[in-house]
Amino acid sequence: MNRIEKIREYVDNIILHIPDETVRRCGYSHLYGVSQACAMIALKRRENVELATIAGMLHDIYYYSIMDSKDHAHRGSVMAREILISLQSFDVDEIDMICNAIHNHSCKGSKHSSFDEVLIDADVLQHCLYNPLFDVAEHEIQRYGNLKLEFDLL
Ligand SMILES: [Fe+2]
Repeated sequence: MNRIEKIREYVDNIILHIPDETVRRCGYSHLYGVSQACAMIALKRRENVELATIAGMLHDIYYYSIMDSKDHAHRGSVMAREILISLQSFDVDEIDMICNAIHNHSCKGSKHSSFDEVLIDADVLQHCLYNPLFDVAEHEIQRYGNLKLEFDLL
């Protein structure tokens, strides 16, 4: 089983046991939607596709485990580190890359490292494409516009 599938197994286990059906559906579509968007953006920008895919799957794992959005990016990076260490399949640099991206993913207003930017943009893309007929949130308009330009969608 490759490392992406190991993480998927872990995430499935958490998401598929959420009692509320609506939250379960949202969690599944959001975590795997962001993960696929991470893969696409990382491919385009020549970033590490495997680690970006994993960062997407884990980025809101704290929220969907504890159902508390307060400080979820920072707490989520701590939780993701524990998960990644427990799987004994990642080295320290890889864990740092994934966890730093998760730590920073809520700061959509500022610019981060090129790897961190993949996760932030993937989060925006999933929010905006979940239903393309919904209005785009004010704080995501700029990034969504830049992504449409980057992917030739205008
Ligand atoms: Fe998210």
